[in-house]
Amino acid sequence: MAGLGDLSRRRVLQSGAAVMALSAAQAEAQVKTLRIGLVGVGGRGTDLLRQILRMDNIAVPAIADIDEQKVARARKMVADAKLPQPEGYSRGERDFERLCDRGDLDLVINATPWQWHTPISVAAMKAGKHAATEVPAAITLEQCWELVETSEKTGKHCMMLENDCYDAETLMVLNMLRKGLLGEPLFAEGGYMHDLRRVKFGATKEGPVSNAEPWRLEYTLKRNGNMYPTHPIGPISWWLDINRGDRYTSLVSMSSRSGAMREYAEREFGKDDWRAKADYRLGDVNTSILQTARGRLVHLYLDTNTPRVKEHITRLQCSKGAYSSMMDKMFIDGVSFRGSGENWRSHHEWEDAAPYRERYQHKLWQERGSTAASSTHGGIDYMLIYRLVKRLQAGLAPDMDVYDAATWSAIFPLSERSVAGRSIPVEFPDFTRGRWEGRAGINPDEID
Ligand SMILES: NC(=O)c1ccc[n+]([C@@H]2O[C@H](COP(=O)([O-])OP(=O)(O)OC[C@H]3O[C@@H](n4cnc5c(N)ncnc54)[C@H](O)[C@@H]3O)[C@@H](O)[C@H]2O)c1
Repeated sequence: MAGLGDLSRRRVLQSGAAVMALSAAQAEAQVKTLRIGLVGVGGRGTDLLRQILRMDNIAVPAIADIDEQKVARARKMVADAKLPQPEGYSRGERDFERLCDRGDLDLVINATPWQWHTPISVAAMKAGKHAATEVPAAITLEQCWELVETSEKTGKHCMMLENDCYDAETLMVLNMLRKGLLGEPLFAEGGYMHDLRRVKFGATKEGPVSNAEPWRLEYTLKRNGNMYPTHPIGPISWWLDINRGDRYTSLVSMSSRSGAMREYAEREFGKDDWRAKADYRLGDVNTSILQTARGRLVHLYLDTNTPRVKEHITRLQCSKGAYSSMMDKMFIDGVSFRGSGENWRSHHEWEDAAPYRERYQHKLWQERGSTAASSTHGGIDYMLIYRLVKRLQAGLAPDMDVYDAATWSAIFPLSERSVAGRSIPVEFPDFTRGRWEGRAGINPDEID
């Protein structure tokens, strides 16, 4: 944004305010049927389509994928759900542009490889549609700004489909924070720790694997930083009121040696195979620390290269207590341990999180938990689509906005920059351009 004159800066700020004010104006519009175009119907796009087809008052007039067979499969899924069969788009990598130009769509959802998320979202918004994109929404800082500026200029929403924000745990902790039970958040920790070696190579010594995503290998070969931060940072950002009362101001990042991919490739494909000799830039483990304007800290991990069991790490330390998802425990000062004077012990005892989960379970899970349960990722994918569709049908803004999409995605290029500079601190852009201070935090009572 360097060099932006005062007048154009004011114009951008005004149009930004217009995006935020969309809710009230659009609420009156009352969209009856939400018309959705879907781009990318591989593994994830198919999961999303399955959830979309469970919603009332939707239409899916168009589906795109570079693979014609996948388009045919998805079109059949829609027809099997007793909806008009969508038109298919499979004339190459930019055929999504023809889909975006259709006159009968309200929303374009994309579940393509990462490099396409911003181009598709931008094309959708420029063509007058709302955009929803798989994670991460962007892979460079320029793309993050492009999403923000396009959404502000067009007045169209751009939501990143961060399903972990709808996790029962995310919403339970949010409920507890809003009730003041935990005090003020001070420190949060989270990680994406998932052995993706088979998926990245798309093969083992027995041959190709069915859920292969070989495009992911490109990123592991070429870039070194936290390239998949959004699953942990989404929930943490809701808890810390990021872009809504606080904001990330700086980040430092460090990557370990890179060796696990070569070791796997040597074992699976032999030491003479190019994959056993390749230079993988992504360190096996990356760790990044973020600081906020209000002095909070966030510690993130990424580990997709090593042999391990998938681990869901979330820890939140607040001024009145702490929560650990790994241990499934809660500690609340003066409640979990009441000792004082001679009874005071330095080793306080954790409480099981289960009773808290029952008491503070979010209403979305109370009311829709059993309906959601059959969906992928333990129900959160149903919740994600349910909320997106419900909000847009009512003419309201989705729960996550373009500033969230840009902020959470920016961690990838920022961490890369820090790692390349031997862990130099890098400044975090303020995508809201100062508006973070006046915005209210996510209200769990409004998520229904
Ligand atoms: N939120 C989650 O829990 C979650 C889970 C899995 C994947 N994802 C994300 O979803 C996205 C897709 O992942 P996947 O596992 O489905 O990968 P995939 O490779 O199975 O599917 C990608 C699809 O996009 C198509 N495609 C590629 N370029 C295209 C283009 N230019 N236009 C139209 N179609 C194109 C491919 O043919 C393929 O069908 C990724 O961004 C991934 O990070 C998110």
